[in-house]
Amino acid sequence: MSGHERLRLVVLISGSGSNLQAIIDACADGTIEGEVVAVISNRPDAYGLERARRAGIPAEVLDHTGFADREAFDRALIEHIDAYQPDLVVLAGFMRILTPAFVQHYSGRLLNIHPSLLPDFQGLHTHRRALEAGRTVHGASVHFVTEELDGGPVILQAEVPILPGDDEQTLAARVLEQEHRIYPTVIQWFAEGRLRLDPTHGVLLDGDRLPEPVRWPAAQS
Ligand code: GAR
Repeated sequence: MSGHERLRLVVLISGSGSNLQAIIDACADGTIEGEVVAVISNRPDAYGLERARRAGIPAEVLDHTGFADREAFDRALIEHIDAYQPDLVVLAGFMRILTPAFVQHYSGRLLNIHPSLLPDFQGLHTHRRALEAGRTVHGASVHFVTEELDGGPVILQAEVPILPGDDEQTLAARVLEQEHRIYPTVIQWFAEGRLRLDPTHGVLLDGDRLPEPVRWPAAQS
């Protein structure tokens, strides 16, 4: 971004939208120099739609069950998103596998947050699997989206401890708290023009290749 225009964000959701809320709040208090120009959900009952409406943000439902196949849904999704002319598309609990055509269309301007320390625990039920594996550390990752599911280059991660007595719910809540810190941070890096996905070198932060993701301990504020 040039520094004068505010970053235009379209946020895709499927559920509660607590990450969406963190992003809306960060735009409101200036932590992100940007604005959420639209929220699109593939599920009509997603609570995040209510959060968007309360914030005065256009909220649309594009129900995937009404489409013949994944390609048709993604084509329609691209049309809906592009009507808002976003600089960055943010997946915030958007529980859909995306087609290569969709991912390529937004290459370098498509971010996702995943509730694990990638590359560990790609896919679903990450908290349960971390508990079952006997891990003592877990976390969340923000990454650029590429064609590989949960496999795009990671930008920033936050760690949390797994404590004795944790269950899926307590662990998910601890991870979510960190998600709400790292997602606005990465979006602001993008807004400031500090962050870029380079086809050859991967993630560039302040012009330098990130040899590995930045990792924050949970205690940092
Ligand atoms: C978050 O934990 C996010 O990391 C996860 O869904 C949750 C959405 O919560 N995303 C994925 O699992 C994507 N593979 P929210 O709706 O409250 O932001």
